[in-house]
Amino acid sequence: MPFKTIYLLAILLSAMGILATTFTTNATLRSTTSAAESATDAPVKKDSATSVKAFANVYKVLMSPRCMNCHPAGDVPLQGDDSHLHTMAPRRGTDGKGLYAMKCSNCHQPTNTPGLHTPPGNPNWHLPPAAMKMVFEGRTPHQLAKQLADPKQNGGKNMEQLLEHANDELVLAGWNPGEGRTLPPMSHAEFAKAWTTWIKAGAYAPKP
Ligand code: HEC
Ligand code: HEC
Repeated sequence: MPFKTIYLLAILLSAMGILATTFTTNATLRSTTSAAESATDAPVKKDSATSVKAFANVYKVLMSPRCMNCHPAGDVPLQGDDSHLHTMAPRRGTDGKGLYAMKCSNCHQPTNTPGLHTPPGNPNWHLPPAAMKMVFEGRTPHQLAKQLADPKQNGGKNMEQLLEHANDELVLAGWNPGEGRTLPPMSHAEFAKAWTTWIKAGAYAPKP
């Protein structure tokens, strides 16, 4: 065989090798994920009664001040357990991170500031963006369930991404609110369970 042919063959064979490895890796990954999923939570049957019942608990958490304060109807965040307008009125801005000198991260540090009436902290502390405000304030259970499940209103999330959002860092921040603030009305584990059940049972909305 001329050298050129051997050379080409070698390239071809190694390309096949790479492809084969990619396929096996994917297959392995896929089987690991599904095994892990079935181990942690059994599949939930699609059922509107189960779904709507779970959403009642989801709704209690979403409307609690720890969540609603960052999901306001207007462009100014809310504060405190009575959800009053944020003092000094920092505004949403296009990206949700504040405007001009009033950037959220000027005051909200990567971690909670110790003491009463100090800013709670997170490296990613901001409101949803102007183009998709994800308002919770004032929404009925029916309206909110519809909105959360709609990719055009929930930040383009499919069901898988919506499930994952139960462990989003800003969601988790609700259970680490800083001194003097009440916790959401149930544990994070109970919330995650209600959230998962609501979605896996079909993400049904309660009657209007
Ligand atoms: C610091 C502000 C902040 C806090 C506090 C906060 N969120 Fe959010 N939330 C956001 C931002 C910003 C987004 C948009 C980013 C994204 O979609 O990933 C968002 C998106 C969401 C979404 C997806 C959008 C939708 O409509 O489906 C859900 C669900 C959600 N938050 C739930 C919660 C819950 C539950 C809590 C309280 C335990 C909470 N959030 C607390 C800022 C916050
Ligand atoms: C000038 C400083 C400052 C700026 C800028 C600022 N904040 Fe705050 N924020 C605070 C302080 C201080 C508190 C605590 C107030 C209290 O507990 O009485 C707070 C509290 C909050 C709370 C209430 C948290 C809870 O769990 O109740 C939210 C929500 C919030 N800020 C969102 C924002 C967002 C979003 C931005 C940017 C658009 C922003 N803040 C910009 C100082 C600031």
